[in-house]
Amino acid sequence: MILDDFNTLISWSLASFSHLPWRENRTLYRTLVSEIMLQQTTVSTVLGRFNLFMEEFPSLSDLASASEEELTVAWKGLGYYRRARNLRLAAQYFLEEEGGVIPGDYHRLLKAPGIGEYTASALLAIGQNKVSLPLDANLERVLARFYLIKGPKGPALMKKIRARFQEELILKEMHQGEVSPRELSEAFMDLGRMICSIRKPRCIECPLKNNCKAYEMNEAEKYPEVSS
Ligand code: ADE
Repeated sequence: MILDDFNTLISWSLASFSHLPWRENRTLYRTLVSEIMLQQTTVSTVLGRFNLFMEEFPSLSDLASASEEELTVAWKGLGYYRRARNLRLAAQYFLEEEGGVIPGDYHRLLKAPGIGEYTASALLAIGQNKVSLPLDANLERVLARFYLIKGPKGPALMKKIRARFQEELILKEMHQGEVSPRELSEAFMDLGRMICSIRKPRCIECPLKNNCKAYEMNEAEKYPEVSS
């Protein structure tokens, strides 16, 4: 049963990765900061910076009033500094326009500066355990393989994956509360990072191998296609 596989995947993820600091003491603010950090930076780099950043800016309002210099120091090592500026802009926006509360509504989240589809979806699924699919490059790869969805990597493929996911039983189970959107999203991310890698995926170790279409065809590495 596919659901059993998803549950095995979730158990593996919970047992191995619940200690990641952004998965402890969850608040929407912590989720916002970690999701922005993790977008272009590896887990191991973020691990070395996340707690320090939180000590420096423990709340949305601390971040909103950060000076350029404080922000630069706290963002050190994370790269792509524009994200830090956008993060501060988002914090200011939530303070001014949302009464200091990060909203639980997709379209309201999207109105904040620097919050795109992925981050809005992560704030729902991971931050609030609401039904949503935060499709990043890891999930794109895992799901393109699992469902054997063709097409070059990119927005059109993401759209197909989203559509396919909508049709699947797993979505119904999420709505019925039998699968946690948060746990499943994080488990897919862990799988993409640790096992379902771009090159040489370790399919033998994968909890989803019995139902993975790409594994069945022995073609995992060919998905998603990379446009030349
Ligand atoms: N846990 C929560 N969000 C994550 C992400 N974007 N990458 C890795 N682990 C995560």
